[in-house]
Amino acid sequence: MREKKCFEQYEDIKRFRESLKNNHTILHIEDHGAGSKVFKTNARKVSDILKYNSSDKKSAQLLFRLCQYFEIENVLELGTSLGVATHAMAIANPDIKITSVEGSSQIHEFSSSQFKDLGLNNVNSICSTFKKHLALDKTTYDLIYIDGHHDGAATIAYFESCLNRAHRNTVFVLDDIYWSAGMTAAWDQLCKHSQVTASVDLFDLGILFLRTEQLQERFYIKL
Ligand SMILES: C[S@@+](CC[C@H](N)C(=O)[O-])C[C@H]1O[C@@H](n2cnc3c(N)ncnc32)[C@H](O)[C@@H]1O
Repeated sequence: MREKKCFEQYEDIKRFRESLKNNHTILHIEDHGAGSKVFKTNARKVSDILKYNSSDKKSAQLLFRLCQYFEIENVLELGTSLGVATHAMAIANPDIKITSVEGSSQIHEFSSSQFKDLGLNNVNSICSTFKKHLALDKTTYDLIYIDGHHDGAATIAYFESCLNRAHRNTVFVLDDIYWSAGMTAAWDQLCKHSQVTASVDLFDLGILFLRTEQLQERFYIKL
């Protein structure tokens, strides 16, 4: 997890982030989540969404490595935003397929066009609320990344709902586990969940495993 090797794909991750940093297009957001701690209006510059709402370089690289290490083939991402993590995961393996869900239509349109420009044919970008999508999607996923609607009760409900799309080796990744008291409590509850065995606390991201050969144990790693 603390791999120091510099993968050549890190340059692609950097380039994509740089292009978003220099993009000042204004997008109008529909908020389906827990609101923003930073933005006061629903009109937001792409460069600001990158700064405040997107995976940072370390998290994007970690998601890339997780997908490579576990030879992940099928990913569900709840919360596409500009597609920083989607892109990092999509370039991890030649056979990987990503389903990424975004509820805000202008953000969805923007990230979909980015994926097209980047030639990412393995990304299925869906405009929907998480709840509506999970009611329809019956696919089984190897990695499920929950990164949106940072409300404790909602996060637990999405996790429970995603369990029906998981197998024993599915890896769950949650972002912003310390975003609020509610998220912190939800993370603690999920680590103790009867179907969760190992949990890894990366002090921003959290990883949950269901593998039954492992006893329930909590690990803490500073990236
Ligand atoms: C933190 S951002 C995702 C960041 C992205 N995964 C990345 O790595 O850069 C969360 C996104 O989830 C979307 N979102 C929040 N709650 C949602 C919901 N209930 N249904 C659909 N989309 C939602 C927001 O519009 C926002 O774009």
